[in-house]
Amino acid sequence: MENITIRMITDENQKECIARTVLEDLTDWFGIAESREGYISDSRSQPFFAAFINEKACGFLCLKETGPKTAELAVMGVMKEYRHQGTGRKLFQAAREYAVRAGFEFMQVKTVQSGHYEEYDATNRFYQSLGFQELEVFPSYWDENNPCQIYVMSLPQKPSVTGLIMSRHSYRGRYRPERVPREDLKAIMEAGLAAPSGCNMQTTSLIAVDDPELLAGIRAVIDPPVAETAPAMICVLSQKITAYRGRCFAVQDYSAAIENILLASLDLGYQSCWYEGHITDDDRINDQIAGILGVPEEYELVCILPIGIPETEPVPAKKKPFAERAWFNGFKKQSD
Ligand SMILES: Cc1cc2nc3c(=O)[nH]c(=O)nc-3n(C[C@H](O)[C@H](O)[C@H](O)COP(=O)(O)O)c2cc1C
Repeated sequence: MENITIRMITDENQKECIARTVLEDLTDWFGIAESREGYISDSRSQPFFAAFINEKACGFLCLKETGPKTAELAVMGVMKEYRHQGTGRKLFQAAREYAVRAGFEFMQVKTVQSGHYEEYDATNRFYQSLGFQELEVFPSYWDENNPCQIYVMSLPQKPSVTGLIMSRHSYRGRYRPERVPREDLKAIMEAGLAAPSGCNMQTTSLIAVDDPELLAGIRAVIDPPVAETAPAMICVLSQKITAYRGRCFAVQDYSAAIENILLASLDLGYQSCWYEGHITDDDRINDQIAGILGVPEEYELVCILPIGIPETEPVPAKKKPFAERAWFNGFKKQSD
C-alpha cells in the first residue's frame, strides 16, 4: 500500500488547483460542470485537507460551517486511480480531528439516498462505516430523482482547561510525518509568550523550526537521539535579566512559557515533551543547536519541544498520591 500523507492546505490557489484536478477526475459524481465549478470556488475559503501520495495530490476534503456547533463535510473526493487504499478515511480522520479542535459538536454530510444509484450506494456505505447516522431524507431538496439523505454524527467535546492539564503526559513516541501548519506553530508560540514572567521582564524567546533540512541538522547533534520523527520543534531561549533587587527569574519565566506551550500543543491535537536535561548536561547539545540557529551569546537555549501529531498514545508517568504532596491548613495535615 502506498504511503498516504494528509495536509491541511491554506493557500487558496493551491486549494483550487487540487480541487479541480480531483473533481475533474470524478465526473460520475461531479458531472455537472456548473455545480463542480461551485464546489471548486467554494473550496478556496473552506478548511481544506489534501491527500498526497509521493507528493502528488490525489484527494481532498472541505468542511463548511453550517451552524455554530455544526460542520458539514461539504465535499470530498479521491481520484479513481488512488481509491480503495484508505485515503478517504484518512482525510475524514484529519477533518474530524480539526472539527473537534475547532469546538464543533456535530458533523453532517449530505448524499443521494441509498437504492437509487450504485455509485451513491457505495458513498452511503462509506459514510456509515465512518460512524455517520441517518438523520432524515429530504425527497425534494435537490430534485425528485436525487432524494437527499442527511447523515449526522456527534463529535467528542473539547476538554476543559483542567481536563487538558490532566491529560498532558510527556510523549516520547513516533510522530506522523504531516507538517504542522505555520498558524498552529504561531498560536502555540503565542501561548508560550503569554505566560507570566517575573516583573514582566519577558526573558523567554522562542524559535520554531519546521525546515526539514534544519531539523535534520539539529537531530544530527542530539546524541542519544530524541524526537527523531517530529516534523517541527520549538527551541526555548532564555536571557538572564535582573528583575528585582538583584534577582533573576529567568528559569521561572521559561518554565511557565514551556507549560503553556505543552498545553496549547495538546489543545491543537499535537504532542510534545520537555527536553531540557538531555541537552543541557556536560555535552552541551543546547549550545550546538544554538550555533546552528545563529543564537547570540547573551541567550541560552534551554529546552527543545518537538511538536507533531503522535502515532501512538503517550504513556502516563506514575505520580505520587495526592496525600503525599498536597494538604489543607498545614504541612501534612488533611488531604480531603
Ligand atoms: C526541567 C525538566 C527537564 C526535563 N528534561 C527531560 C529530558 O531531557 N528528557 C526527557 O525525556 N524528559 C525530560 N523531561 C520530562 C520529564 O521527564 C517528565 O515531565 C516527567 O517524567 C513526568 O512525566 P509527565 O511529563 O508525563 O508528567 C523534563 C521535564 C522538566 C520539567
